[in-house]
Amino acid sequence: NIDVCLSPELIHLYDLEGKIVVVVDILRATSVMVTAMAHGAKEIIPVATLDEAKSYLDQGYLCAAERGGAQVEGFPLDNSPFSYMNEEIKGQPIVITTTNGTLAITKSTSADQVLVGAFINIQAVADYIVRQGKDVIVHCAGWKGKTNMEDTLFAGALVELLCESHDLACDTAHLSLKYYQSVKDNLFEAVKNSAHAKRLNKLDVIKDIEFCVGQSIYDLVPVLEGDKLVAVK
Ligand code: MLT
Repeated sequence: NIDVCLSPELIHLYDLEGKIVVVVDILRATSVMVTAMAHGAKEIIPVATLDEAKSYLDQGYLCAAERGGAQVEGFPLDNSPFSYMNEEIKGQPIVITTTNGTLAITKSTSADQVLVGAFINIQAVADYIVRQGKDVIVHCAGWKGKTNMEDTLFAGALVELLCESHDLACDTAHLSLKYYQSVKDNLFEAVKNSAHAKRLNKLDVIKDIEFCVGQSIYDLVPVLEGDKLVAVK
């Protein structure tokens, strides 16, 4: 079956054992991770705290750090997908810490497998899950413990893609599906009105939002192996 957890604050209520967890943070952490891997990053090391990221930075790793939507001073990379479309990241391991996305990943590690999902790789995620034939929990990163629109919409879109192979486990799977179906013809318009889009607008990143609602641009799935995400086709 497929279930949806609407906040990292609720993930302890779900039994992750033996299941696939798909972590999603559409704006923008998981969209960034997929983009970086598609543009040749060797692996991504998601860390929950700035202190952990700093210790990697001190060892010479390429590091991205975001808090409140903005780049953290002292770190070379920000949290825009467009910062990962260049030669500099090819073949490199990249360490990333963000407000919500990386926290959701580190809270999912008791699952059988942890995948990173975004609209830009949603079909690849669905195909991977069908091949594995396991129960799935979509873990929405939200914002500081609160539920958000864009991650719930992704959950609904994935439920729609998997509803032939997976039963809908609980009410959140039904409600995210209905919500997605009610706005899917104009996803950008819906996501533009989200709280985080408004937060990001102040940072002038409307093109990031447009990019992050594009569907199935990349055909790969970042999968957690130990403490690193590696790309699986
Ligand atoms: C997060 O992890 O909270 C986000 O990716 C924030 C952002 O938009 O940079």
